[in-house]
Amino acid sequence: MIDYDYITKKFGTPIYVYDINELDKRIDHLKKSFSNDISLVYAVKANTFIAKEVESMIDKFEICSPGEFEICNNLNINHNKMVISGVYKNYEFIESLVKNYDINRYTIESIEHFEILDELSIKYNKKLNVLIRLTSGNQFGVSEEDFKHIIANNKNLVIKGIEYFSGTQKHSIKRINKEIDYLILFSNEMEKEYNITFEEIEYGPGLPIFYYEGDEFDEDEFFKEVNEALSRIKNKKVLLEIGRSIAASCGNYLTTVVDLKSNQNGNFAIVDGGINHLVYYGSTLAMKIPHLEVLPKRKADSDIYNIYGSLCTINDVLVKNLSVRKVEVGDIFVFKNVGAYSSTEGISLFLSRDLPKILIYNKNKEYKLVRNTIKTSEINFPNYEVKE
Ligand SMILES: Cc1ncc(COP(=O)(O)O)c(C=O)c1O
Repeated sequence: MIDYDYITKKFGTPIYVYDINELDKRIDHLKKSFSNDISLVYAVKANTFIAKEVESMIDKFEICSPGEFEICNNLNINHNKMVISGVYKNYEFIESLVKNYDINRYTIESIEHFEILDELSIKYNKKLNVLIRLTSGNQFGVSEEDFKHIIANNKNLVIKGIEYFSGTQKHSIKRINKEIDYLILFSNEMEKEYNITFEEIEYGPGLPIFYYEGDEFDEDEFFKEVNEALSRIKNKKVLLEIGRSIAASCGNYLTTVVDLKSNQNGNFAIVDGGINHLVYYGSTLAMKIPHLEVLPKRKADSDIYNIYGSLCTINDVLVKNLSVRKVEVGDIFVFKNVGAYSSTEGISLFLSRDLPKILIYNKNKEYKLVRNTIKTSEINFPNYEVKE
């Protein structure tokens, strides 16, 4: 059990705490929920801080930028587990990878990517394994026409299969079934037309997390349905490319009440964190109540509070109309399920507030500080001495 009292005394707040014991359990649960032959690909964008922690438990990493590659590379993550994905992979970046490493997969997101990869594969005489990302109608991936152009014009790449991702936080099994129907139909068509075989389909179903109180959802039943849907893909390796569903539950965000006031619109508790550190998918103006705890635990009458962060914007509201025991300055709110996207997607530079510390609670029940406070005032500072 995480000792929040110890953490806040030793490290202060705001702080993220990623519980690797919970992460292990979650990945184990995901593995048990899907057939043995389905692989897990962790989308690193959800949380780079747990990448090394999940390495032994997942099959591959989806890496979408030079920065994400640098992080994984510096963590000595095996190149044979890397899927280099995402839009805008330029020549220099791909060349440095092709030249220096044996990367497991590259995705092709455009004709430009295809031409760069094919050229570099010839230049370095390396068989590059690629997945062509099929678009779902947005800026990602290629159209069916471009997909065909790539197969028809490919000289040296080994086309292993298709990558497909159409959005996050999907809880409609109907939609997932429709996407799988489409993938099966399209891959059959391509295989027949071009007399090729796709070995694998890497599919991001955007598995959801239920963040709010009252959002009841039978996840096990949903996973069963998703598994059945995936099992309709025959004779191919299926890879589940997911971020949120792996990372969310291990994360806790601790923030301290630093001020209290009341006016004609209610009680306001100001905390030392804010929406610059916290991203809850679908929280429209904080009307929904995320899973949270107020510490220390004590008996007191309850009251209703609006929880606001420390930014200069009326939008910096974490929870509205929260009914909890009477709050005092110094009390701690622990926000749950923040392991995915909060530390990587927040508007963290706004107002030059410091970036929070990040703490890992590891399998030996030790606390390991993996990022100290970072002063964004240095990033937001106009440095007149910068050398060009
Ligand atoms: C290509 C791709 N794959 C996987 C993911 C992970 O999605 P999720 O966190 O919903 O599983 C994303 C998220 O944006 C993505 O863009």
